[in-house]
Amino acid sequence: MSVLERASRSAPRRTGRTAGTSRTVRTWRQVAARVRDQRRYGGGFLWLELELPAGFTAPAAGQFVQLLLDFPSPVLLPRPMSVASVRKLAGRLVLGFLYGPVGAGTRALAELQPGATVHVTGPLGRAYPLSEQGTPVLVAGGRGVAPLLFAAETLARSRRRCEFLLGARTSRLLLGLAEARARLARSGSRLHVATDDGSRGFRGDVVRLLHHIAPTLAAPIVVHACGPHGMLAAVARWALASGVRAHLAMESVMACGTGVCRGCPLPRSAEARERVLAEGAGAAALRGNPEWAMCCTDGPVFEARELDWERVE
Ligand SMILES: Cc1cc2nc3c(=O)[nH]c(=O)nc-3n(C[C@H](O)[C@H](O)[C@H](O)COP(=O)(O)OP(=O)(O)OC[C@H]3O[C@@H](n4cnc5c(N)ncnc54)[C@H](O)[C@@H]3O)c2cc1C
Ligand code: FES
Repeated sequence: MSVLERASRSAPRRTGRTAGTSRTVRTWRQVAARVRDQRRYGGGFLWLELELPAGFTAPAAGQFVQLLLDFPSPVLLPRPMSVASVRKLAGRLVLGFLYGPVGAGTRALAELQPGATVHVTGPLGRAYPLSEQGTPVLVAGGRGVAPLLFAAETLARSRRRCEFLLGARTSRLLLGLAEARARLARSGSRLHVATDDGSRGFRGDVVRLLHHIAPTLAAPIVVHACGPHGMLAAVARWALASGVRAHLAMESVMACGTGVCRGCPLPRSAEARERVLAEGAGAAALRGNPEWAMCCTDGPVFEARELDWERVE
């Protein structure tokens, strides 16, 4: 039995929640998927659709999968990718991904044509707790829009509205604007845009927009965010100072994605350290230690109080 198989069997069952319901997401699987579609998305990004074999558990918004390219591949390890959409087609799951080709792995992924094979491990990690009571406020920066498009869709399926805040330096870099507008219009949710230079929407960053809009919304609000770590740290600090619950989807360079390699540490807050120490031997082995959380198993979605934002890089 391989290390990964052993990890799969001993992995803790993760509690992923979808809007309106609370459900346990079954342990991940490794499967061979087929490229169904791959197209340009704008801003140098691509939209990829993978068709999975029957039996793959549907991911929840905020979870990710590991994508491993078929032989011959320029990279040895799989690459983590957030799920941006989930739909069913003739009884099979089709997962959508929004990604930028930034290095050898994602550039090779971008070359794949319909019919090509990609090995998928997932679903992995903790999802956004979308069933939490309150007004959902989704805050996206850059490619962080990917899991939040899926979160907005999940909320819409449960007939819940959200406020969707999308930010970029300038209007040209507002990734996913058209898609967000189309998905949100169907559910009666509202899209708010911020650009640093004021070329579209609110002038200023998306955290200032959040500060501006929050008092106008029905309390309590619950923030679900994804974007560059600098933006997420600012959202977390604002939420902690304002007494608002915020859930941030973090990234880290990853190898296994399952807690085995210990390669994706993020610094825990003092409060989280105390909690993990108190859990003692009861803490799951594939999670981090009292000092460091593993992004892949403790996260990637963390509540603002769980991390030490002064030490997050
Ligand atoms: C949980 C999770 C979800 C992700 N979701 C998405 C997504 O939806 N869309 C998307 O475009 N990307 C996403 N990423 C990032 C994506 O995994 C990396 O861009 C990819 O692994 C780069 O692989 P590569 O071989 O192309 O580049 P490499 O040659 O491995 O690296 C190219 C450059 O990217 C940097 N890099 C590699 N991985 C990361 C990372 N995780 N975070 C920041 N910088 C990194 C490297 O340091 C290097 O500078 C996600 C990462 C994580 C951890
Ligand atoms: S990527 Fe291996 S422990 Fe997180």
